[in-house]
Amino acid sequence: MKKEKILFQFPGAFEEYRFEKLHNVTFDSPHSGSAAVADEIAALIREKQAQGASCILGLATGSSPIGVYQHLIKLHKEEGLSFKNVITFNLDEYFGLKTSDINSYHFFMHENLFDHIDIPEENINIPDGTITLGKVRTYCKDYEKKIADLGGLDFQLLGIGRTGHIGFNEPGSNINSQTRLVTLDHVTRFDASGAFHGIENVPTKAITMGIKTILLAKRIVLLAWGVNKSEIVQKAIEGVVTPQIPTTYLQNHKNTTLVLDEQATSGLTRIKTPWITGNSDWSDPITQCKAVFWLCEKSKKSILKLTEEDYNQNGMSELLNKEGNYYDLNIKMFNRLQNTITGWPGGKPNADDSKRPERAFPEKKRCIIFSPHPDDDVISMGGTFDRLVAQGHEVHVAYQTSGNIAVSNDEALKYIEVLSDTSSDERQYSALREELVNKEKNTIDSISLRKLKGAIRKRESLAATRYIGIPDHQVHFMNLPFYESGKVQKNPPTQTDIEITNKLIRSVEPHQIYAAGDLADPHGTHRICLNILFDSIDQLKSEAFMDDCWVWLYRGAWQEFEVHEIEMAVPMSPDQVLRKRKAIFYHQSQKDSVMFQGSDDREFWVRAEDRNRTSAKRYRNLGLSDYQAMELFQRYKF
Ligand code: F6R
Repeated sequence: MKKEKILFQFPGAFEEYRFEKLHNVTFDSPHSGSAAVADEIAALIREKQAQGASCILGLATGSSPIGVYQHLIKLHKEEGLSFKNVITFNLDEYFGLKTSDINSYHFFMHENLFDHIDIPEENINIPDGTITLGKVRTYCKDYEKKIADLGGLDFQLLGIGRTGHIGFNEPGSNINSQTRLVTLDHVTRFDASGAFHGIENVPTKAITMGIKTILLAKRIVLLAWGVNKSEIVQKAIEGVVTPQIPTTYLQNHKNTTLVLDEQATSGLTRIKTPWITGNSDWSDPITQCKAVFWLCEKSKKSILKLTEEDYNQNGMSELLNKEGNYYDLNIKMFNRLQNTITGWPGGKPNADDSKRPERAFPEKKRCIIFSPHPDDDVISMGGTFDRLVAQGHEVHVAYQTSGNIAVSNDEALKYIEVLSDTSSDERQYSALREELVNKEKNTIDSISLRKLKGAIRKRESLAATRYIGIPDHQVHFMNLPFYESGKVQKNPPTQTDIEITNKLIRSVEPHQIYAAGDLADPHGTHRICLNILFDSIDQLKSEAFMDDCWVWLYRGAWQEFEVHEIEMAVPMSPDQVLRKRKAIFYHQSQKDSVMFQGSDDREFWVRAEDRNRTSAKRYRNLGLSDYQAMELFQRYKF
């Protein structure tokens, strides 16, 4: 991990890092960051092998370390890295879960690592969640002693929870805490509720190593990927040490590195507001916009009301020097934003398009809206979808995944009962009915049940697209194979997923592609779908029709663009807001108690309306026209 060693001296040593108290390195993707961490672990294992010693690893579960484990498996298979000298201790386990439960960390570790490497079974230590309450104290003491007797952890891998927990050391954990039984924070249980099909099924307690146990490790690497983690990462790195954010305790450890991707760093002062750390590249127009819109928000002023003093007092005097005059700068920024607004997302026919977001020609375009799940199209861009159809464009919708895991068993049972009530031979459905009635919690659905759930979502989608007014043959159900694992954790995407996408794009030869550029959905499906689409575009870009194809990114239910990122803003009238609401209602299986809600417990239509209203308000607050609602887009240039 060369890069890490070079950067190790940086924090504090350079002006731009002056707010940071925890060593961190940024990689351009979770993939490259994970590979670097796996390489460091592999080097340690080999070093210990050369010494004839055991390598004592502390391991974590969750979504963050999966890439590291995949890379370690690769090193084992392709380079013969042996784990015979490795002894592992997992950080934690849910209390009360059997090792066979698909949500237990035993299950996770075997599925994601241990079953694929040559580690001796007796070298694996994971807290036993089935231990009785009476024995748990002694059990935890023994776990702690076993680590100490081996000379302590050589390396501890960590993730970070949104509460700032490490292991399951929730806010309030003491710096001297050791392995023990703890109560899980509501936020942590909420975040796990997807995998458990409802918060009520998430255990309330867990066994976790303590803060002290973790801090005694000789080396600690914490992984954080994605924008969802950016807020807590900023607090961990820049905040004061407090039991309220247990990750801040790592500031007391002398050999800790946070390995991050660019999105996880987006809350750090040097990235979010580089003018505060005196490190802005003012020749970059995006930085200029970012700074000016930030200044408006901070001073609660519209763009044209910003004064020279506002700029000077907020680290932006250099920007004024460069631009000459604050008022010209205000006008430049105002016009830039004004030009993003259009009621013609497919381009305005016969209009001067030099300052419009979209081309006027061809007048009638072919568009594909890629929707990761069967409902993101209407949730995220229902208003724009409606406008495109009303303005005569040939709009196709491509549902990338079946979305089957998000249909509850109760919902599926309802359909099966309707089918058997109306069938001449109700035995036809008895197997599925039986499965649904007797299903144990946290077990994978049979293929037929998944098919039923996928069909429910397909029919709901067609009801919605018919309402918006496109013919069924323009609606494509791609059922990408990467999604079909039957579990929250998906299969790795392959060329087959890309081929299916290539075929569809070739068959339509679109002038516009809309895609979810949403990087914050709870299970990462949007991100995988986007990567598949980008790979497909990359493979197709030399074909002639792609010269005339523009790609627009929208954001889903979990995140919105920053103002400086917006390149097209499509306003919605009050009537269009209602039409969009109705289109979302057709996705009945996703209404009321949605299975995979993420960290926001409002229904999707409420979230969508709120978000679109807030977007319009942001424009109004910056001094632009006052619309009811707006949908926002960013152009992806390939
Ligand atoms: C897992 C653990 C937790 C996770 C944390 C982040 O063993 O102890 O602290 O590391 O909740 O989870 P992900 O990586 O899923 O975001």
